[in-house]
Amino acid sequence: MIRFIHVTAVFILVIIIESTFGLEPPQDVKIVGSDLQWKPLNDDNVLYSLQYKLNSKSEEEWLNVSSHIGTKLARFKITSEFYGAVFRVRSEKENHISEWQYSNQVQCLNVESCVPQMNLNVKAEMVHLTMAHMDDSLEKEYGDNIEFNVSYWKKDNGGYPEVQSIIISRNEDIHNLEPEQNYCFQAEYLLFHKPYGNPSEEKCEIVPERPEAVKRRAFLYSISATLFVSAMCGACIFVLFKHHKKVKQCLQPLHLEIPDHYLEVLYNGFPLEACPSPSSQSLRSYDMITVMDVEQNCQKEEQEKRSLT
Ligand SMILES: *[C@@H]1O[C@H](CO)[C@@H](O)[C@H](O)[C@H]1NC(C)=O
Ligand SMILES: *[C@@H]1O[C@H](CO)[C@@H](O)[C@H](O)[C@H]1NC(C)=O
Repeated sequence: MIRFIHVTAVFILVIIIESTFGLEPPQDVKIVGSDLQWKPLNDDNVLYSLQYKLNSKSEEEWLNVSSHIGTKLARFKITSEFYGAVFRVRSEKENHISEWQYSNQVQCLNVESCVPQMNLNVKAEMVHLTMAHMDDSLEKEYGDNIEFNVSYWKKDNGGYPEVQSIIISRNEDIHNLEPEQNYCFQAEYLLFHKPYGNPSEEKCEIVPERPEAVKRRAFLYSISATLFVSAMCGACIFVLFKHHKKVKQCLQPLHLEIPDHYLEVLYNGFPLEACPSPSSQSLRSYDMITVMDVEQNCQKEEQEKRSLT
């Protein structure tokens, strides 16, 4: 008897708890395309509230979706600003609320705002393109039917640039680019060969020359520089040879012409031609030695002359 009372009491308690807190949550919360949807309960008086968090892993609080606070709506159109978000929805009836039910994260497949991720690696006269997706949902869904249309053009072409494009599925090298030119690249999705979503941002890079070309040019520069310097030296030497007297005069601006008769007085009638005056300021140190030699010879000659007479 006591046992029966116990069981009845627990049963009644369970029913009370159930009716207070046990409102059934929305079922089957899922994202189909860009629609967040759930299965409504078989009760017209039940309302639903929707919240979201842009970064599912962060500790930030859940925010209300303002259009979905206690409404009968059982779906929500996901727009591009919700990329990466997670949603949660619950049932509400009078004072009763259910547990939250969570959605998956919003991916590229659910919004059209995803753009191709393009990485450029410029090398000599070429660029290595590495393509990636913001997440793997498009690739998982469409496989090879999702491609990239990469456009590229020379930026400083002046006027309207000539745009070229290639369709690639992952990584690709573009060869035969003009060196020293600023090339811009932009990628767009193709889904079943038709443009899909928005194009990526433009990325521009200056394409470098081949190292051989740089080396060859440096070599040619050095050769022409050498030739130029040699030619200049040759010309200088030629001019010096041809006009060496004038040049000598130019280089000896303080040349003092001492009149012959002064020298005769100074040297007591020494033959001037044979014995240049050592006092002449026009003499340079290198002339001095020859002058002194000549002078000594002259003095010897003079002594011989005197001894003879
Ligand atoms: C969300 O809405 C509920 C009901 O209107 C409100 O009580 C709650 O404070 C709101 N939360 C935020 C984060 O605004
Ligand atoms: C790829 O992009 C270029 C340049 O924007 C465009 O002219 C071309 O039609 C595109 N290709 C496809 C298949 O859409």
